[in-house]
Amino acid sequence: MPNYTLKIRRYDPESDDPPYWQRYDLELAPERSVLDAIVKLKEEVDGTIGFRHSCRGAICGSCGVKINGKPCLACNNQVGDCADDSGEITVEPQGNMPVIKDLIVDMDSVHWKKMKRVTPWLLPEGDPPEREYIVPIESMLDITQTVACIQCGSCVSDCLAMEVDPEFIGPAALAKAYRFVGDPRDAAHRERLQDLADDPHGIFDCTHCFMCVDACPKDVAPMDQIMRLRRKAIKEFDITDPNHGRSHEEAFVEVIEKKGTLDESKIMQDSFAPGIKEKLNPKNILPLIRTLPTMFRGIKSGKMRSLPKLIPGVHHKLEDQQAIKRIYKHAEAHGEELNLYIVGEGNEGTEDEGTSAESAEEPEVVKSK
Ligand code: SF4
Ligand code: SF4
Ligand code: FES
Repeated sequence: MPNYTLKIRRYDPESDDPPYWQRYDLELAPERSVLDAIVKLKEEVDGTIGFRHSCRGAICGSCGVKINGKPCLACNNQVGDCADDSGEITVEPQGNMPVIKDLIVDMDSVHWKKMKRVTPWLLPEGDPPEREYIVPIESMLDITQTVACIQCGSCVSDCLAMEVDPEFIGPAALAKAYRFVGDPRDAAHRERLQDLADDPHGIFDCTHCFMCVDACPKDVAPMDQIMRLRRKAIKEFDITDPNHGRSHEEAFVEVIEKKGTLDESKIMQDSFAPGIKEKLNPKNILPLIRTLPTMFRGIKSGKMRSLPKLIPGVHHKLEDQQAIKRIYKHAEAHGEELNLYIVGEGNEGTEDEGTSAESAEEPEVVKSK
């Protein structure tokens, strides 16, 4: 039987000791789970290790941890797959939530609090039917993906927006919000969406980083659900928000349709004052002036040093811009939901300028569910 070493992050907030790593050697068959390894250690070697689990079958969501830096379920990962060449496996608590002890995080103060924030129950109107509600099968299929959530917190653990803004409602709770916004039995779709759009930590706070999509063991794809909430808010209910989230999104869509490359100055201006008329509107002068610190930060970091980045409208187009337009037309004609992601821009800036551009790449089109 091969030998493994579990390197576990230990921490007891009630002691005066800072967090530390503790290594444990153990023998286990490679197909056994990391949870099996932790249980074995606790039963045979060190009864003080704090961790949570229940079903051992990837159903209850209680064994969420980070293995080798990635959030996942301990019961759903085999030691043989997780060990590096020396047989070592690193296990630590999930991120973005306070540690109660060792591998146990305080889900009440973050995950469950945010879940409650989205009113996670149906709000029907009128008297209930005499028998059951009859719901079209396609509506149920539409929300099946969100229903699959097992509340493990893996997406919350790695959400980059939440790391910067702990008030962000977050991927799990917003995916849950879609579960009700997509359900025809619920009568508060508009109110729910308006509320999530008005909240500065709501649907427009997500930065499309994909971390929640990668982290989710049940393919809920929370980011896709957030995009669907946005689309519904804008297209079906024509909802506007005081945080310029909608105009920011529309500025992105328009600029990419026209150029295929990120004209950041134009996106910034159009987010606050779309079109010439809005730019001349006195009420938008102050919001536009407020974008200046962002621009200065962009210049300082090297992100916006070149002229095409600074002057709205002069940013270059993709060579085959017509291909992008064709994608837009196709999506519109077929009613398809498409997410466009710009994966890199080549030949802009140099290493000296500190840009993050690494290679000349075409925009990548990812079809969302
Ligand atoms: S895509 Fe959005 S919700 Fe998901 S992890 Fe990134 S910022 Fe958070
Ligand atoms: S959306 Fe996925 S990762 Fe997030 S809590 Fe639900 S099951 Fe876990
Ligand atoms: S123990 Fe239930 S999901 Fe891992």
